[in-house]
Amino acid sequence: MSGPNTDYDPVEVSTLNPDEVEAARDAALAAIDAAADLAALKQVRIDHAGDRSPLALANREIGALPPAARKDAGRRVGQARGAVNQALAARTAVLEAEHEERMLAEETVDVTMPTDRLPVGARHPLTTGAELIADIFVAMGWEIAEGPVIEAEWLNFDALNLGPDHPARTMQDTFWTDPPENGVVLRTHTSPVQARTMLSRTPPIYVVCPGRVFRTDPFDATHSPMFHQVEGLAIDEGLTLAHLKGTLDHFATAMFGEGIVTRFRPSYFPFTEPSAEVDLVCFVCRGVDSETCRTCRGEGWIEWGGCGVVNPRVLRACGVDSERYSGFAFGMGIDRTLMFRHGIEDLRDLFEGDLRFTTAFGSDL
Ligand code: PHE
Repeated sequence: MSGPNTDYDPVEVSTLNPDEVEAARDAALAAIDAAADLAALKQVRIDHAGDRSPLALANREIGALPPAARKDAGRRVGQARGAVNQALAARTAVLEAEHEERMLAEETVDVTMPTDRLPVGARHPLTTGAELIADIFVAMGWEIAEGPVIEAEWLNFDALNLGPDHPARTMQDTFWTDPPENGVVLRTHTSPVQARTMLSRTPPIYVVCPGRVFRTDPFDATHSPMFHQVEGLAIDEGLTLAHLKGTLDHFATAMFGEGIVTRFRPSYFPFTEPSAEVDLVCFVCRGVDSETCRTCRGEGWIEWGGCGVVNPRVLRACGVDSERYSGFAFGMGIDRTLMFRHGIEDLRDLFEGDLRFTTAFGSDL
């Protein structure tokens, strides 16, 4: 049996030396006091209260002491660690409060700063264009009339003096709904709204009818199977071709500005007699040196639409007294009108829904 371990000297466990423990505690407390912010305090906590800090090492040494010495050493180390932990907690509270106060003071929100705005939509140029046209006529006391896009063959053709065998029917490349013998078409022009208006109202009549129309056309820079027309119809006592010319001149000036010149070119429509195509002086070359103009291809003029004095046969078919009343009508493409007005070169730009195109007209909101 071995004797008591008389060689063991607790003083040799230097980390447990009371002075060392006190020094470690004081160093910790001083560092805690000196920590200026939470980041610095975090490092202080690692250095002075972490697993490898002097006091943690001292604590681990306690087990190596003889039982009699453990109690005293344990109390001293425990007190020192307790003091350090308390100081850490107190300093943390102080620094957190300071940090919060500084944030409140410094991190103000400037409500006048510009923000990322959500994109604002723009109304489509065709919508605003149709409204602009309607406004021009409403300002002259006209009314707006509308009709369905799926239309009775009779209203689209027969009522307008386009009987079943009329050769002009083939001028309008018609979409027929199935079965064709039902006589229902996608309207090929806005003129059936003329017929509907005359059938449902008594003169005087002054209406404009903007709307979609359909023809079996290709989809290219100047054609589309769906496009827009605006129809005008005036029925009153004593109306003549001169009233038509004056009305279209006013419309053209309101649309394209002062100085625009129109001309009538004899033409044929079954529903008007006499009939004319109305041309605008080319808005690019204005008819000067037109030989080189790509827009009018040397003509000096561009075609805008059709017009004429309403054929008495149409008046009679629609229940209007053709002895008492006369009238005029006109119809032009809204899309074409906008292309002239805004220099749009490709009709497809109006239909393809590219927002970059639409928002360019956003100021018309
Ligand atoms: N509806 C004709 C067309 O689409 C245009 C027109 C309207 C002509 C009114 C004369 C009078 O071609």
